[in-house]
Parts: sequence; C-alpha cells; structure tokens
Amino acid sequence: MSLGVGVKGLGLITCVRSQLVRPTLTTQSQAHLFRPTTTPLIARSLSTIKTPQQNFRLPFFSSTSSSSTYFYPSHSFRCSRGIATATAPPPPASASASSSTSTPAIPVIPRSLPYWLYGCSALVFGIIVIGGLTRLTESGLSIVEWQPITGILPPVTKEEWDAEWEKYRLSPEGIMMNANIDMHEFKKIFYMEWGHRLAGRALGLLFVMPTVYYLTRYKLPRPIPMKLMLIGLGIGFQGALGWWMVKSGLDQSIVIDNSVPRVSQYRLAAHLSAAILLYLGMLSTAIGIQRDARFIKNPALVSEIALSSVKKFRGMVHTAGMLVFLTAVTGAFVAGLDAGLVYNEFPYMGDGFVPPTSELLEDKYSRTGSDKVWRNMLENPVTAQFDHRVLAISTFTFLMTLPFVARRLPIKSTRRLTNLTAAAAITQVTLGISTLLYLVPIPLAAMHQAGSVVLLTCIMALAGSIRRPSRMLPHLRNLKSKVITKA
Ligand code: HEM
Repeated sequence: MSLGVGVKGLGLITCVRSQLVRPTLTTQSQAHLFRPTTTPLIARSLSTIKTPQQNFRLPFFSSTSSSSTYFYPSHSFRCSRGIATATAPPPPASASASSSTSTPAIPVIPRSLPYWLYGCSALVFGIIVIGGLTRLTESGLSIVEWQPITGILPPVTKEEWDAEWEKYRLSPEGIMMNANIDMHEFKKIFYMEWGHRLAGRALGLLFVMPTVYYLTRYKLPRPIPMKLMLIGLGIGFQGALGWWMVKSGLDQSIVIDNSVPRVSQYRLAAHLSAAILLYLGMLSTAIGIQRDARFIKNPALVSEIALSSVKKFRGMVHTAGMLVFLTAVTGAFVAGLDAGLVYNEFPYMGDGFVPPTSELLEDKYSRTGSDKVWRNMLENPVTAQFDHRVLAISTFTFLMTLPFVARRLPIKSTRRLTNLTAAAAITQVTLGISTLLYLVPIPLAAMHQAGSVVLLTCIMALAGSIRRPSRMLPHLRNLKSKVITKA
C-alpha cells in the first residue's frame, strides 16, 4: 500500500473534510512526531487523491463552532501522496476566512487525557478511603514486610499463612495487642492492608502505562509532560512513604518502652498529605486542560475572569484551599495520636472552650525546652485536638463567607460552586463533631476523612471556574499561528 496513514475511527470524516477545507501543512520536523499506521478505510478515501508528495498532519477539528478548532492530534499521519483540493468541495467562504484569522488551537492534547486523569484521581480518592479504614480497623501493621513485586499475591497455602502469621506475632502489635487473635481474625486485618497496598500498585500501573503512551504518542505541550512525570514519581514516592510509615509501627523499641503500638503521627500526616496532594495534582491538571479548551472556544471568558472582583475572589478561594488542607493535616495528627478519644464533647473542652494551659503545654513532651510549643502541638493529644478544632472552625467560618462574596460575581457556575462548597463544609464539620462525640466510630471517622477530600474537590472545582488561562495557552496560540504562517 502506497499510503502510510494513521487515523482513528470517528475522527476520519472530520479529518478529511477539515483538511480539505483548510490544509494545515506540518513542517518536516513536526511530521516525525506522529507515528504512521495503516487504516484501510482512510487509505481507500485517499487513494483517489492525487497531488505532489507532501507530509500532512490532519487535525481533528471540533465541529461545535467555527472558532473552536482545538485538539489536533490523534489523527496525524504521514501521507505519501498528499491530498488534492481538486477532488474536494469548494471551501465555504467563512471557513477559508477563519483559517487566516488567529483561531487558537491546542496541539496534541488528546481528549481522553483529562478524563483519564479524572479516573486516576477517583482511584486515589478510593485509596484514601481504604487507607482510612485500614487505620481505623487497626489493620495497617498486619503485613510486616515490603515486597513491591512478590507481595502482589497473598499467601495461599496453610504453610504460607502460618509463616505470615508468625512474623506478625513477633511484631509489637502482635505481641502487645493481638497475641490472642486466631487465624481468621488475622486474615481479616491482613486482607485489609493487602487490599490497600494492591490498590496503590493498581494506581501505579493505571497511571504510568497511559503516561508512557501519551508521552510517546503525542507531542503534549509544556508543562503537561512535566506534570505527568511529577505525578508518576509522586505515586512511587507515596508507596515508599507508606512503607516508611508502617515501619515506624514495627519498631521493637515500642515493646521495650511499653508504648502504644501505632505508627508515627508525623509519618501518618506525611502519607495522608502526599495522597491529598497527588489527588489534587491530578484533578488540577485535568481541570486546567479543560479550562484552556473553554478559553479557546470562548475567548470572552478571559475578560470575565480579569475583573478585579474575580481576582480578589480567586485569592479568597486559594486561601480557603490552603486552610482546608492545613486543617486536614492537623486532622491527621488527631488521628495519629488517637486524640479523638479525649475531650469527647463540643464546643467545650472541660470547663471552658480552652483546656487548662497545664494540659495544653506539658513539659513531658519537650526535649530541649525551646521545642515545648511545637512538640505539644504535634505530640500532645489534647493540644492536637484543640488545634484541629480551632483551625476547623476558622476554616469553616471563612468558607461560609464565600457564597456571600460570590453573589457579586458575574459567573453563575462560580456562585453555584460556592454554595456547594458551603454545603460540603457544613457536612464536614457535622461529621467531625459527631466523630468526636461518639468516640470515633469507624463509619463516621471514615466519612469524616473522605469528607475532607470532597471539600477539597469542591474548592478545586470552584478555583477551576475562575482559573486563568494556563501558561501553555499563549504558547499554543503562537504555535498555531506559526503553523498557519508556514502553511
Ligand atoms: C474543615 C473542617 C475539617 C476538616 C477538613 C477535617 C479534616 C480531618 C482529617 C483529614 C482528619 C484525619 C482523618 C484520618 O486520617 O483518618 C480528621 C480527623 C479528625 N477530626 Fe476533623 N476535620 C474538620 C473538622 C473537624 C471538627 C469540627 C471536629 C470536631 C471538633 C473534628 C474532629 C476530628 C476528629 C476527632 C478526628 C480523628 C478521627 C480519627 O481518629 O479517625 N474535625 N479531620
């Protein structure tokens, strides 16, 4: 076959038509970016066309509006014969006029990419929930080794289970808390932790394999490749961080000191924070891509978000996001110190809103004298709970002002999202207080943890609704005009 073509199913007709209407020639250097494959259907369509040999890139033109010509890409190929305009219907006047205008384009961002990122972030959300349940059911220390490859399979034979159980029985938790559990109970906590680790591995595969595909198959505009690689590295780092956290709960000094066999609250907070950041990184990349596409479709949006009221509100939303994140981190310290089991009342803590200073700032947590304040904040359950309360209520109050401020904004979706964010904040605080009053029951505590991620998601969507065009937008516009000039 004389033609080397690579075209994906549905885009075929659009591609051919669009190319005929507005031929967009690529330079030799650009053409190598696209991998040729052979599709009989397109080959048949093109075999009737006779022009000098040229390298063509057929862009995928969205047909929704005359100005929305973004997302080139998956339909690019090297065409050995080229395409004759002679066989094509004459281009409509409006189309040829628009080809010479600066119709913006996003080169080589496949439409599937943001949806895949949404899928991955949903998986991270699921893993965060499983992780919370693993901690709450006290299953997290049941696997005492880290075997990234061989650990994929759980023990099968009786001998394998016995060996696994034996290792657990020698761990601090096995000695101090679970010396009398039977094999059935051991299997329950084992499977919980194994499921959490397996989900992490699945995320790794589901992220890394498509990333490699997208990076090799498309020329993604900057900074998307960098972001994908950072997120990929983040997933690997998160796995290592998880094991580093578990290791802190397997330290034999716990038995010697007769302390509580649990993981370090510092490492737990690091693990949870990293998971949330990964989640937000995926979400923000996907939202950013779709947002840029909207700017290209509807450039009027740019002037809307340039209003000073929108700018100020954007600052407020970013502050809200940071406050919620910080509250979640202090929540991880509450969870890590089992601080939800003291002062199970609200709004009081003992006789007043603030517990006695002697309890908030205990000398026993200080090692050098000068570290008394921060060590109490991060190691004393009473202080950790107090900090979480104060921060949570401040964050809540701030979030509740957003719908009132947003009333003056001209963007309807933003106003709606502020209401949704306020609703999520009310739910989250209600869940937090209930978790405390009922002495941390597993379902409430798990919902409270998931609620913090839901709240962050609302804020991320809210920030997306007033997000500025990303750095790649001017780059994309430049690129598009260069391509048109060369053509
Ligand atoms: C904006 C509001 C809030 C956010 C974002 C938030 C976030 C969090 C997070 C992320 C955790 C860690 C969960 C885990 O790792 O399992 C947590 C734990 C906790 N939070 Fe909140 N929280 C908020 C409000 C509150 C309020 C108002 C209270 C009650 C006064 C509260 C009480 C607790 C308790 C008792 C825990 C420990 C639960 C456990 O041991 O699993 N939270 N919070």
